[in-house]
Parts: sequence; C-alpha cells; structure tokens
Amino acid sequence: MKELDLRLRHLKKSYTREVLKDVNLRVDNSSYVCIVGKSGSGKSTMLNILGLVEGYDAGQYYFNGTLIKNYVDYSRLRLENIGFIFQSYNLIPTLSCRENIMLPTLYNRHNKVQDFDELVQMLDLGPLLSQRVTTLSGGEKQRVAIARALILDPCLILADEPTGNLDPVNREIIFRLLKSEHKKGRGIILITHDADTAAQAETKLTLYDGALWREVSA
Ligand SMILES: Nc1ncnc2c1ncn2[C@@H]1O[C@H](COP(=O)(O)OP(=O)(O)O)[C@@H](O)[C@H]1O
Ligand SMILES: [Mg+2]
Repeated sequence: MKELDLRLRHLKKSYTREVLKDVNLRVDNSSYVCIVGKSGSGKSTMLNILGLVEGYDAGQYYFNGTLIKNYVDYSRLRLENIGFIFQSYNLIPTLSCRENIMLPTLYNRHNKVQDFDELVQMLDLGPLLSQRVTTLSGGEKQRVAIARALILDPCLILADEPTGNLDPVNREIIFRLLKSEHKKGRGIILITHDADTAAQAETKLTLYDGALWREVSA
C-alpha cells in the first residue's frame, strides 16, 4: 500500500461567513476517522479541501509531505492517492457500470490498477457490468461508485455521507466494505450523520463551530 500522511494545521476557510475556523487533523494508513456535525457545519467543505478539489484561506495542509497551495493543479496527486465516494454517487449516466468503473484508468499513467475481476467479485457487480448505471438501484449504484473509487488503488478514501440515500441493508454492505478496505491499509475519512455508523469508527470527531472536537466519554 502507498504511504499516507495527511496533516491539517489551523486550517481556515470562509465563504460569505467563516465556515472552518481552526481545523486540525492527522490521518495515516491506519486511520478510520468518522466525522459528524450538523448540516451546514462545513463537513463537505472540509472533505473537498482534503480531496484537493477546493482551496483554503489560511493554515497548512500537507499531503504526504507536499504543502498544498491554492491554484495549483493537483489532479495527478488526487488520481494516484484518493478515492472519493459521494451520497449522490456521481456516476456518468450515459455509461455502463464497466465504463464507469474503468473511467479513472483513462487518465492513469503510473498507478497499479486493481484487478478488475477481483473488484467486481468483491462488490458483487458481475451481472450488472454491461447495464447502464441509470437502471441500477441505489445500493448497486453506490457499489459501482466504490469500485470506481478503488480501481487505482488509493491510500485514502474520502466518503461524504455515502449511505445517506440507502436502506439499512445496503448501508451495512457499504460499511462492511469500508471496514475491509481499511484493513488493507487505506486511510478512511467518513462523513455521516448516522450516529450508529459513527459509533463503529475508531476515531469519532464532531465538526462544530469551525473546529473538530474529539468525543469525550462520560
Ligand atoms: N461554494 C460555496 N459558496 C458559498 N458558500 C458555500 C459554498 N459551499 C458551501 N458553502 C456554505 O458553507 C457552509 C458549509 O457547507 P457544507 O460544507 O456543505 O456543510 P455540510 O456538508 O456540513 O452540510 C454552508 O453555510 C454553505 O452554504
Ligand atoms: Mg455536506
């Protein structure tokens, strides 16, 4: 597994108001971090910064020793290291399952590509491969999205409420998958507002008033 060493120090980000005021976080290959927080507290903003798709105003973000700066193209760093999973799946509707899963490999030059058949078997996608993704159920769509997130063997998985649209059975399937990917040495940062889910994670943090707070047990 590629090494992961992610550090946020005193990170700040404002839009019309201050959203992130002082975010500090360290994540490595052994981390499984679950983040909860009210709607509008800045969870997605933070995840987008971590995922190198959004800039920040002050503080520092180091990804594997690289200080992340605004207005620099980090698409290669992202492609080689980060798998993103969203609540709304973000699949390409005109493509088949197979094509959606393989999409990241079109841009790939250096990465070891995961064994496609193994991935398909693990996610139980075999019978669906030639189907258009618009014909799938929510749980099936999310499994395709996870396969796409894993195809380039990322050391970090960022998941923004990945089970928000799913029923309990499919929720459980997704959490089992995340757990088993964590065991392979992928760092995981999971945003959820499902308290049961959060309770399973090794580290549970709450984003509140622009900062991350550790749960203090009574
Ligand atoms: N691109 C943007 N432009 C302006 N305001 C934004 C933008 N993205 C998010 N915000 C604002 O930042 C706050 C945090 O949003 P978000 O990170 O999506 O919260 P959460 O994911 O916790 O619900 C909200 O008040 C939202 O309206
Ligand atoms: Mg959000």
